[in-house]
Amino acid sequence: MIDVKNLSKNYGSFEAVKDVSFFIDKGEVVGFLGPNAAGKTTTMRILTCYMPATQGSVSVAGFDVFDNPMSVKKRVGYLPEHPPLYPEMTVESYLSFVGKIKGLSGKILKMKLDKVLERTSTAEVRSNLIANLSKGFKQRVGLAQALIHDPEVLVLDEPTVGLDPKQIIEVRELIKELGEDHTIILSTHILPEVSATCGRVIIINKGKIVAEDTPENLTSGLQGQERIEIEVDGPSKKVLAALSKIKGVLKVSEDGDGSIKRYKIELEKEPDVRKAVAASVVNNGWGLLEMKSSGLSLEEIFLQLTTDEGVEV
Ligand SMILES: Nc1ncnc2c1ncn2[C@@H]1O[C@H](COP(=O)(O)OP(=O)(O)OP(=O)(O)O)[C@@H](O)[C@H]1O
Ligand SMILES: [Mg+2]
Repeated sequence: MIDVKNLSKNYGSFEAVKDVSFFIDKGEVVGFLGPNAAGKTTTMRILTCYMPATQGSVSVAGFDVFDNPMSVKKRVGYLPEHPPLYPEMTVESYLSFVGKIKGLSGKILKMKLDKVLERTSTAEVRSNLIANLSKGFKQRVGLAQALIHDPEVLVLDEPTVGLDPKQIIEVRELIKELGEDHTIILSTHILPEVSATCGRVIIINKGKIVAEDTPENLTSGLQGQERIEIEVDGPSKKVLAALSKIKGVLKVSEDGDGSIKRYKIELEKEPDVRKAVAASVVNNGWGLLEMKSSGLSLEEIFLQLTTDEGVEV
């Protein structure tokens, strides 16, 4: 449904998106996750024909964004980072205006307008001036303009930004509901958003894709690695040094005060490494109080992939 191949975008000599490829199937809800300046908005603008690519090809709903922008726009609803709202219009007149631009008229326009007002819970403010709406309602009207022509594909650039917690939950519910009969790509740097709404995550950093998987697979551990946590009663510097030396241990970090500390250990997926960890602690005469396997949180995955933090062994 969305097919991006070797996409690059330069602003002058600056490469904002570098050789990005991904495919989103019909009916998928995909999170496009990345820190500030990663290239999310740039990619979304290209997907929605608001900006040309420097290199590569993009097709959406079977049409090339460069060759057939009108066909793409008909099939795509786009919530930009800053929705193009006209403050001097009422909600209803604005949505009706957008509907007309998208080719709707008469009874169909009225029907779609009522449906979208209901779906985005904006019916109660339909006669209000957009200028007087709260930020949350403006965001909903932004979503409503993306939905008015009932597009197959939704491209949502940070759909819950600036909303209060209750509204965030409501918009996430709406996205989930929309996900039942739409293909959706939504950008965010808020991780719970991804777990709450998306079946798959594409993580982008500095213009490059650094990971692509289901939230579950991402959190269950990096490929070929697993993570354990142990609690040890012993001199932490020595424990740290001993653990770091074990073959198959990739990274160790410690946490806690006093002589009893927790150590998070990333290791190769080999049962022998866990045995070696246990043996090392016990053979040194320290107390092994606990050992458990622990998955990575999505936050940790995200930080690992997008920063250079962490103590490499
Ligand atoms: N019109 C432009 N001219 C020059 N540079 C730009 C332009 N638009 C974006 N950039 C740069 O491209 C990079 C990617 O920006 P982009 O807006 O795509 O990031 P983003 O992932 O959406 O970030 P955020 O999470 O902050 O919205 C940034 O370094 C940004 O400064
Ligand atoms: Mg952005």
